Amino acid sequence: MTIRLGILGAGARGADAYGRWVLQRPERARIAAVADPVPHRRERLADAAGVANAHRYPDWRDLVTDADRTGLDALVVSLPDRLHVEAAIAAAEAGIPILLEKPAATTAADLDRLAATAEARGARVWVCHVMRYQPFWQTLKHLVETGTIGGLVTMRIEENIGFWHFAHSYVRGNWRDTATSAPIVLAKTSHDLDAIRWFSGAAPISIASVGSLTYFRPEHAPPGAPEHCLDGCPVAEECPFYAPRYYVDALAHVDGFPVSLLGEDTSAEGRMEALRRGPYGRCVFRSDNDAPDHQQTTMDFADGMTATLSTSAFTGQNTRTVRLTGTRGEIAGNLRTGQVEVDLFSPRASLPESALTRVVGQSTRQPLGHKVFELYSGPVNAVGEPDHRGHSGGDDALMDAFVTSLAGGGEPSTTLKASLDSHRMAFAAERSRLERRTVRLEAA
Ligand SMILES: NC(=O)c1ccc[n+]([C@@H]2O[C@H](COP(=O)([O-])OP(=O)(O)OC[C@H]3O[C@@H](n4cnc5c(N)ncnc54)[C@H](O)[C@@H]3O)[C@@H](O)[C@H]2O)c1
Repeated sequence: MTIRLGILGAGARGADAYGRWVLQRPERARIAAVADPVPHRRERLADAAGVANAHRYPDWRDLVTDADRTGLDALVVSLPDRLHVEAAIAAAEAGIPILLEKPAATTAADLDRLAATAEARGARVWVCHVMRYQPFWQTLKHLVETGTIGGLVTMRIEENIGFWHFAHSYVRGNWRDTATSAPIVLAKTSHDLDAIRWFSGAAPISIASVGSLTYFRPEHAPPGAPEHCLDGCPVAEECPFYAPRYYVDALAHVDGFPVSLLGEDTSAEGRMEALRRGPYGRCVFRSDNDAPDHQQTTMDFADGMTATLSTSAFTGQNTRTVRLTGTRGEIAGNLRTGQVEVDLFSPRASLPESALTRVVGQSTRQPLGHKVFELYSGPVNAVGEPDHRGHSGGDDALMDAFVTSLAGGGEPSTTLKASLDSHRMAFAAERSRLERRTVRLEAA
């Protein structure tokens, strides 16, 4: 059975992540309709997929209205954050299953509205929490579920955004303004909150969060810095955020994300032209951003587990690090390297059998000589080398699970229902940050 999909939003996610997966697997799925108001994005994906002219739309609403006539089996909603809820509700009302980009909603009221509609209509809605599909997180989850470290007591995630990535998305780009996108605790760390909720297995009780925008503000602009880097910035050589160094030099061989956001012309000249006046060439101290550049959140759950989530723009690498402590062991991992270290406290402890568990080292640690295992849990390419493309394999695995499910084979774990708590945790964290108080979560 070939699944017929409609893509709502042919941007970085719709075209490059999910659209690409479909184009590479014509026997499993095909793109039968595309909606995007930006002609070159819409036409590029529609041409590559051979979509009929009648099924190329400037707005998602027309695609959904026509979905029955077009014979669509499901939709991929990869629109900007603020458009997710209306599109998801329209799809639910039309009875079409959807893969919905995170966040499912940007306000608590909208989330409740979507949840109520989906429940009333029995809608099939899956949220793109791609981390659950990555070998790294699946390895950790398997270790916890098999009781390898006993009962899970604490979970700590560090979301190291990377200074260049933060400047791209949260100072110059689509998520710089909380009012037009979503709070960063939702926009960026909804994956982490989803992972924390997934691991705890119990409802959240309370959450407290602090953080602010400290650095990317006008008062930190170097003397004489102009509005745009290319207007003769006097500190161009030493500024870590000098835009051409990133978009033109470092990403010279990339024409997809994030370069595609600059505009249609991704030649070196086209990029320079876009940086001269466009948002991605702005001085990072003179943008119209308000996203916090660091935030720390703590929370507890009904099963007694506590968790912390630390987010910072000021990191040299773009990765997540995690530490899980349990009653009989401890796990530490780094998503970028794929390395996981498992300390097991009992002298008789061992690792569970699993296809995911690739032990690359074993030692003992004092004072009791307890066991330490080193695992590699990252994705590998055809020749066995680490491969972090597509969210470390998560994007492809998510699409695979989605299309498999549409064809009648199983249910992905990232349903809307399974995502409600983590969204509510994000809304509560933002409230806590703004109101400077601990927020209690209502039992759902
Ligand atoms: N799951 C993940 O790990 C992950 C990663 C990055 C982004 N995202 C989410 O994916 C979504 C899309 O992000 P992106 O990076 O692809 O953004 P993008 O800006 O590249 O793509 C969004 C596209 O939607 C189009 N669009 C806007 N209004 C429209 C309308 N009325 N009808 C049809 N199309 C419309 C835009 O023109 C654009 O091409 C966002 O919600 C983002 O938060 C998720």
